[in-house]
Amino acid sequence: MTLATPTLAPSLPTAVGPLSAAVLDTITGRPSRRGLYRIDAPLGDSDPYGLDLQLALHVCYELHYRGFDGVDTRWEWNPALLHLRAALEDRFEEALVREVGEIGPDETAAAEMAALSIEPVDGQGLSYHLRDEGTWEQMLEYFVHRSIYHLKEADPHAWLIPRLTGHAKAAFVAVEFDEYGAGHGDRLHQRLFCDLLGAAHLDDGYLAYLDHVPAESLTVVNLMSMFGLHRGWRGAAVGHFASTEITSPPGSHRLVQALQRLGAPAACVRFYAEHVEADAVHEQVVRTDVVGDLLANEPQLDRDVVFGIRARDLVEERLADHMTDSWAAGRSSLRRGLV
Ligand SMILES: [Fe+2]
Ligand SMILES: [Fe+2]
Repeated sequence: MTLATPTLAPSLPTAVGPLSAAVLDTITGRPSRRGLYRIDAPLGDSDPYGLDLQLALHVCYELHYRGFDGVDTRWEWNPALLHLRAALEDRFEEALVREVGEIGPDETAAAEMAALSIEPVDGQGLSYHLRDEGTWEQMLEYFVHRSIYHLKEADPHAWLIPRLTGHAKAAFVAVEFDEYGAGHGDRLHQRLFCDLLGAAHLDDGYLAYLDHVPAESLTVVNLMSMFGLHRGWRGAAVGHFASTEITSPPGSHRLVQALQRLGAPAACVRFYAEHVEADAVHEQVVRTDVVGDLLANEPQLDRDVVFGIRARDLVEERLADHMTDSWAAGRSSLRRGLV
């Protein structure tokens, strides 16, 4: 079966402030051969969760995935740009560490994962709102926010592969194998999300909505990229991955219910239905075989796993709050409306 080729390298987004302008101006030129130099970018007291910093960071990270159309591939490992990226990351990381706060000695990864799998009886939040009263327009906005991640689903976690060993590695790759379609290009979860977008008459191009989404949507993906691209954060990356898999089945189930209530096309329902089933199995594997084996061999990573779970929760909540607050105020949750 031949699949339509999605856009390989996306177009560059539009700068939204001095930091994103500095990154975009830099990478649209040719990398200099003059060794180390400093790219001027006024970090000053920029908001670590603000759109300008998050977009600048997102563009830097994207150079490690598909890059951008017309951008020289050598920027990926350019020391001047990496130096600027590190400064952006420092700012983001400091804010996360501050907000996650102290992790007490009794707060273990096992306890954290157990807590994640308990669903509140009277749950509230974004997926409950969508299930019970969300409109189709809100659903479309939700798809757009999530497109930034789902079109590269599993890729940010895949950086973990060379950083794990033994059974944890084998079990991790077994889960990723499913995320990547278990040998079938038309079953890649990234592909299923393309199908969802197409069925909803949205643009299924990779990062097609980069100029539409707010900082909060970029932050959730930047967190995964930061954890994935730094070996020192491998415990946090595993925690992030575990949290994704554990919370996915109930959340995906509510989205299936939302989409069925709205009479959505089958391809839209399929993406979430697939996650209800697959992630229920993944959850067990991740908990016991990936996290369990990793911590049996490297117990000092326990706190990092907890940090990864909590940091994910924090950025996911920011995104969910942004959507529900915008809708409650009668506004679109996107920067640029859908036409
Ligand atoms: Fe998936
Ligand atoms: Fe999964």
